[in-house]
Amino acid sequence: MVDDVSITPWEVSGSLGDTDYSRIATEFGAKVIDAGLKKRISEFTGDLHPFLLYDVFYAHRDLDLLLDAYSRGESFYLYTGRGPSGKMHLGHLLPFMFTRWLQEKFNVDLIIQITDDEKFLFRDLGRDDLEKYTNENVLDILSLGFIPEKTHILIDSRNSGLLYNNAIKVARHINVSLAKAVFGFSDSDNVGKYFFTSIQAVPSFILSEIKGKSVRCLIPYAIDQDPHFKVARDVIPKIGWQKPSSIISKFIPSLKGTGKMSSSDENSGIYLDDDRRTVRRKLMKYAFSGGRDTAEEQRKFGANPDIDFAFNVFRLLEQNPSVVGKVYEEYKTGKILSGEMKAMTADRISDLLEELMARRDDVRNHIGEYMFDPEKF
Ligand code: TRP
Repeated sequence: MVDDVSITPWEVSGSLGDTDYSRIATEFGAKVIDAGLKKRISEFTGDLHPFLLYDVFYAHRDLDLLLDAYSRGESFYLYTGRGPSGKMHLGHLLPFMFTRWLQEKFNVDLIIQITDDEKFLFRDLGRDDLEKYTNENVLDILSLGFIPEKTHILIDSRNSGLLYNNAIKVARHINVSLAKAVFGFSDSDNVGKYFFTSIQAVPSFILSEIKGKSVRCLIPYAIDQDPHFKVARDVIPKIGWQKPSSIISKFIPSLKGTGKMSSSDENSGIYLDDDRRTVRRKLMKYAFSGGRDTAEEQRKFGANPDIDFAFNVFRLLEQNPSVVGKVYEEYKTGKILSGEMKAMTADRISDLLEELMARRDDVRNHIGEYMFDPEKF
């Protein structure tokens, strides 16, 4: 039910089903990605990422226009971001995994904005915490393995001049009533919050400013960020540049099957520093199961993979659709038991986390090379 679901950039509550997600996207003014657009994407990428196949990235704004321009020889850059408010969990990683795939397929520049200023304004966090989470989160993200010379980390507090001078161009076109209507602010919210959207808008046109000519931008983000970019898209043409396009994701559900994976409940999610035993324990203990009460019943009647947390994560991490199809059939017909399904998924997750850990030192040693520098473009 969309009525008990609340989505803003600061808060997400309620349990979201597929129809809720489609309704939210269209209510916000975005479009659902249909079979035709998926086919169009695969004409450029060769294959479809599981997040597109299984509709995790499910909506867009002007992605079709961006692809049209691309096929005419006009390139684009990618922009995404992270608010460093704490440790990262698997849910936070999804947009970055998908962005990495896009970068690899299109071989384009990527700007990653780290909004420590946002978390200062919206959360009760001090400089020390923000500094710590910024450094940790940047390593977590970069460990996914982006193209080093094309990946640019823009940390708000360290690039404040550039951001401020461009944010005021946006801020001039956003009035208080719009900010209240879009974000639900009241008179008791601090004035920094009202300004913040202007800061988050900047990376979506910064390359045009730097190059002095229009460069297209594609922004992958989770649906809660859409209000920022809805506003940004209205303003950016007024300052002389093209609207950015976007590709929009759902949230990864909490282990428990309702709500999203949340940083406020340790047991609702898998953290990037969870070791193999912890991952397995969390899945065994908390993951919502589509299985039967007893092994005997399950052998006889099979499980319901569609509502099963472990299966749903498994298919996102498995690149080969025929493996997914096989596991689906075997789970549904009772050949695979729920404990086995959970163990398989736990292994997949841990393989991924170990891969990130293995790259971490190398990234740390080259961290300076990833920092945003206008001279590089
Ligand atoms: N506001 C986002 C957050 O709280 C961070 C962010 C900044 C972002 N720019 C972005 C996310 C662009 C997606 C795309 O996490």
